Amino acid sequence: MSQFDVIIIGSGAAGLTAALTLAETKKVAVLAKGELGGGATEWAQGGIAAVLEPGDSFENHVRDTMIAGAGLNNLKVVEHVVSEAPAAIKRLADLGVPFNIDDDGEGWHLTREGGHSHRRIVHVADATGWAVQEALEKAAVKQPNITVLPDHVAIDFATGRHAEEFSTSGAVHGLYAYNRKSGKVETLTARATILATGGAGRTYLYSTAPRGATGDGIAMAWRAGCRVSNMEFMQFHPTCLYNLEVKNFLITEAVRGEGGILKNPKTGHRYMPDYDERAELAPRDIVARANDNEIKRDGLDYVWLDISHKPADFVKEHFPNIYEKLIGLGIDITKEPIPVVPAQHYTCGGVLVDIDGKTDAPGLYAAGEVTQSGLHGANRLASNSLLECFVFGDSAARHILKCWDELAEPPAIRPWDESRVADSDEEVVIQQCWGEIRRFMWNFVGIVRTTKRLERAKHRIDLLRQEVTDYYKNFTVTTDLIELRNLVEVADLIIRSALSRHESRGLHYTLDYPETAEEAVDTILVP
Ligand code: FAD
Ligand code: SIN
Repeated sequence: MSQFDVIIIGSGAAGLTAALTLAETKKVAVLAKGELGGGATEWAQGGIAAVLEPGDSFENHVRDTMIAGAGLNNLKVVEHVVSEAPAAIKRLADLGVPFNIDDDGEGWHLTREGGHSHRRIVHVADATGWAVQEALEKAAVKQPNITVLPDHVAIDFATGRHAEEFSTSGAVHGLYAYNRKSGKVETLTARATILATGGAGRTYLYSTAPRGATGDGIAMAWRAGCRVSNMEFMQFHPTCLYNLEVKNFLITEAVRGEGGILKNPKTGHRYMPDYDERAELAPRDIVARANDNEIKRDGLDYVWLDISHKPADFVKEHFPNIYEKLIGLGIDITKEPIPVVPAQHYTCGGVLVDIDGKTDAPGLYAAGEVTQSGLHGANRLASNSLLECFVFGDSAARHILKCWDELAEPPAIRPWDESRVADSDEEVVIQQCWGEIRRFMWNFVGIVRTTKRLERAKHRIDLLRQEVTDYYKNFTVTTDLIELRNLVEVADLIIRSALSRHESRGLHYTLDYPETAEEAVDTILVP
């Protein structure tokens, strides 16, 4: 058993931000499933939203966030995050993130994205996440109080039920983690644990999210008795590259922000003005539904995103990574349109937390995409999510420091028991279940929903749950099995949340209830 002051599960923007604040005085362990940079943070392209332009205001950013969120946001949380944004950006710049500078050299270059009424997005060309992850990792590995544990897959929390002296307090005292290198399950304990495991995009067949986005933290917290909220609000990005080899490469919203237009490849018609007066700069749920509609109505494989009317130097300067990547695939974006499709992109729902990142379980905090903090409501405004990671990662850490004396010392925890399981002889079952879930979630719980389709999905997930539970009971854990068990749990939470919402709001659009109800109410599932 290894003991730390605080354990953080996840080494992306939320996890590393929390770690850096805590490590000034506490011994911290940071776990990652694979490499430290394997989460969504490293893949972020567009940037981070903050009020920095003269003429912009916190009120504007709050209003844009609430409009995108279709009124379901928690105003207090939105105000908190928006007002903390400039300081969060400054901290990142101090850590060495080389944000692009404006043409006049006076300040940071701000780009524009859908749903924002002002230029508000600081960025590092079109690879902001890579630069942020690099700066955070550099700072973390330099800090002697931080122990990084890559290749450690968290399985479940260690609670009073796992203590040598059994208790039903519900408090979290650490976790069990599968060490991918040794193949053993380790027990790690701490006074406080922070979940920063990112989203659940890989519940869907097509997603811009990395391979590890299997909703592990949401499923773990649910099994530990925490409430989970708003899981029906799954964000689909309108412009993921359509390519038979490269399946999940995002084309940043900033391409539309800098003048890119969407066209129907069959007719050449620029269709977004037909759907919304903000055209390509409408919030992304509207643009994603428009793309989906054009594709389904005309039997297309994709639609076109075209920025080739802009000067070639401008395009290469703003989007160097996209330019390089697509040239390698035979597409010159300075001369021709990009084939794009919508794909799952962001998990708005998650573990319910308060403004300090506290969950329902004593000793357990959460920050970042794994949470439902009240910031995003029914639809996340572009580039507000990295921001949420920085603000909530720091707030959770500060709350732990403030309440340190009230947090319980972890009791002795029983080691992981493998005496009744054998090595799997049927790995094919895991692959089959993974594939099935992701396909029916895409087809039945996608951009446009109906009650009948959701019920079909519910029926299938109930069958799969039985199979996967049996499998989990009988075989030794592997990364794929741990993830599959979590995918089943999270898919079930998404379907149940979607079935319980009898209206269309933000990202949840159902043909059976096309109207938006007068009152905006969160979906809260209680374990
Ligand atoms: P992540 O960065 O996803 O990190 C999750 C961490 O948890 C990883 O270290 C992972 O290994 C670890 N983990 C997960 N499960 C386990 C487990 N069982 N055991 C141990 N460790 C585990 N947002 C913006 O604001 N601006 C953007 O421009 C932007 N662009 C995006 C582009 C793409 C392609 C994608 C996919 C997302 C983008 N987003 C953007 C969203 C944003 O990147 C994410 O919401 C954010 O990075 C999430 O950070 P996080 O710290 O919560 O989790
Ligand atoms: C993008 O660059 O389009 C993604 C921005 C985001 O997800 O906030």
